[in-house]
Amino acid sequence: MTKVGIVITDPQRFDAADTMRDAVPLLAALHRRGAEARAVDWADPEVDWAGFDLVVLRSPWDYAVRPREFDAWLERADSLTRVLNEPALVRWNMDKRYLAQLETAGIPGVPTSYHEEESSLVDALAAAARGTGGSGGPADGAGTPAHVVLKPTVGAGARLTGLLRPDDPAASALGRQILAGPGTVMLQPEVPELSAGREKALYLVDGRFTHAIAKGALLAPGGGLRGGSYRETPQLVEASAAERAFAEQVLATTATVTGLAMPLYARIDIVESATDGLLLLEAELFEPLFHLPLAPAVTEVFAEAILARA
Ligand SMILES: Nc1ncnc2c1ncn2[C@@H]1O[C@H](COP(=O)(O)OP(=O)(O)O)[C@@H](O)[C@H]1O
Ligand SMILES: [Mg+2]
Repeated sequence: MTKVGIVITDPQRFDAADTMRDAVPLLAALHRRGAEARAVDWADPEVDWAGFDLVVLRSPWDYAVRPREFDAWLERADSLTRVLNEPALVRWNMDKRYLAQLETAGIPGVPTSYHEEESSLVDALAAAARGTGGSGGPADGAGTPAHVVLKPTVGAGARLTGLLRPDDPAASALGRQILAGPGTVMLQPEVPELSAGREKALYLVDGRFTHAIAKGALLAPGGGLRGGSYRETPQLVEASAAERAFAEQVLATTATVTGLAMPLYARIDIVESATDGLLLLEAELFEPLFHLPLAPAVTEVFAEAILARA
């Protein structure tokens, strides 16, 4: 009997319903196929990882608050069992500076500058406020600088992510908070289509498109999250042929850049910008919520793909 571990975050530390949202239907589909499968917290010291034929990372979301522990676990689990997506790909994907590598290899993304020092961030914010920075659009007719977005390179769930005016003291304060993490700050111009809730997540299993979700806007102008807490409003949406081709291109380029094999699963977050066309926001290769309850047929495809790799 194939033994599969579905890796989640400790439900005591995280919203249990969220971390189990995909795991519940996925485990049921695996059980229907005769597999022995259960959800396991990556940080649980009691787990016998060698007892699994395969462990599948699904919602290890607290990795972002303790990346070093997660990395150490990844190394240990990798030595004891088969981990998917493969740890080398996960490590590459944990830090959003992979976006710069993909951009160099031809995948258009949101224009981003990276800051490891407060001084360089302060300069970039000042340039954005004047409308002269690479990050931060031109000032409008009234001289009001366009908003910028700050976020950490290692982050998920819009943690420490803010949509702010570059001259707002809250912007530099958020930057300092990210740097103190310790972390690296990503600074981007606001993409209006993202703020209008037009981000689309395209899902692929074994490189094949399965479904697409729109999740609505998340950031409140002036800082923080709309409605005060992280709340996606996921809806199944169509993906055009061009969008699917873009997502496939992201995976193909990832393989070229990393030299690694096709991932078991991927979520490619994109937005169509009126001025710049399709842009990659992020490629989630070890943590994406699949919203399986909205797409029951995908659960079966996913379970089959897991067992085919066991
Ligand atoms: N440049 C941007 N302009 C407008 N909104 C943004 C921008 N970058 C991110 N956002 C919003 O913040 C959310 C979280 O950012 P994202 O880069 O996806 O990081 P993560 O999901 O890993 O926390 C996005 O889903 C989007 O709603
Ligand atoms: Mg995201």
